Amino acid sequence: MFRTNKENEMFRDKWFRAGLAGLALLAVGYAAPADAASPKTLKQGQELFDENCAVCHQEDAIGEPGLAPSLTNPELLSVASDKFFEATIRDGREDTSMMPFAHLGRSKVRAIVAYLRSHEKLPNRSAEVDAQPGAHGDPRLGEQWYNYICSTCHGLDGDGYEAGGTGTAIGLPGFLNQVTDGFIRETIKMGRSNTRMLGFQGPAAMANLTDQEIEDIIVYLRTLSKN
Ligand code: HEC
Ligand code: HEC
Repeated sequence: MFRTNKENEMFRDKWFRAGLAGLALLAVGYAAPADAASPKTLKQGQELFDENCAVCHQEDAIGEPGLAPSLTNPELLSVASDKFFEATIRDGREDTSMMPFAHLGRSKVRAIVAYLRSHEKLPNRSAEVDAQPGAHGDPRLGEQWYNYICSTCHGLDGDGYEAGGTGTAIGLPGFLNQVTDGFIRETIKMGRSNTRMLGFQGPAAMANLTDQEIEDIIVYLRTLSKN
C-alpha cells in the first residue's frame, strides 16, 4: 500500500514526536539519581565528611587497612542502599571505633551519603540485592569455612580490627543488623576492588567458593550476632 504525501508527513511527524518524548523520558530517567543532590548538597557533604570522618576513613574516603574501610569503593556503593549508609552513620557500630553520628541530624547525614554516592562507578544494585532471598545452609560447614578462610582478616569471632586483622567486624550486631543476606552474599562473591577483600568467585577470586558454601558462611555469620 502506498501512502499519500500528506499521510507520509503525518507518519513522520508522529514518529518524530514519539522519538522526542522517548528522549525526554530517557533524560528524566538518567537525571533522577544525579539531581537528588545539588552541587550545594555535595559541597556540604564533602565538608561534613572532611570534618567528621576523614580522620579515620581518609581523604576521599579511600580507607586505611586496619583503621577504617573505604567508603568510596565501587562494589560497596553498588550493593549498599542509602538506608544502610544512613543507619550505619546514625547508629555507628557498637564495639568498634565507628561511633554514632546521630547528633548531626538526618539532613547532614544525607548530605554525606550524597557526597559518597558522587563517587559511584557501578550501577546502584542495592534494591535488587536487598530483595534477594535469605540464605539457607549448614552453619557448621559455614563455621569451618569461616575459621579456615575469613578469620585471618575478620577475627575468629568476627570482631574485626580488635582481633588484629584488616577486615571489619562482620560478626557483630552493628554490622549484621544493618545488612541483608543479599548484601553479604554479593560482597563475598565480588569482593571490594583495591582492598584486601578479594572476591570468592570468578577469575580474581582468593578461593573459589560454591554458591552453597557461601550460603553456609552467611548462615554461620547470622548465628554470631545472637550470642
Ligand atoms: C574513629 C574512627 C572513625 C570515624 C571518625 C568514622 N568512622 Fe566510619 N568506620 C570506622 C570503622 C573502624 C569502621 C568499621 C567498623 C567495623 O569493624 O565494622 C567504620 C565503618 C563505617 C561504615 C560501614 C562501611 C562498610 O564497609 O560497611 C560507614 C558507612 C561509615 N563508617 C561511615 C562513616 C561516616 C560517614 C563518618 C563520619 C560522619 C565516619 N564513618 C566516621 C571508623 C570511623
Ligand atoms: C585478606 C583479608 C580478608 C579475607 C581473607 C576476607 N576478608 Fe572480608 N574484608 C576484608 C577487608 C579489608 C574488608 C573491608 C574492605 C575495606 O577495608 O575497605 C572486608 C569486608 C568484608 C565484608 C563487608 C563488611 C562491611 O563492613 O561492610 C564482608 C561481608 C566480608 N568481608 C566477608 C568475608 C568473608 C565471608 C570472608 C571469608 C570467606 C572474608 N571476608 C575474607 C578482608 C578480608
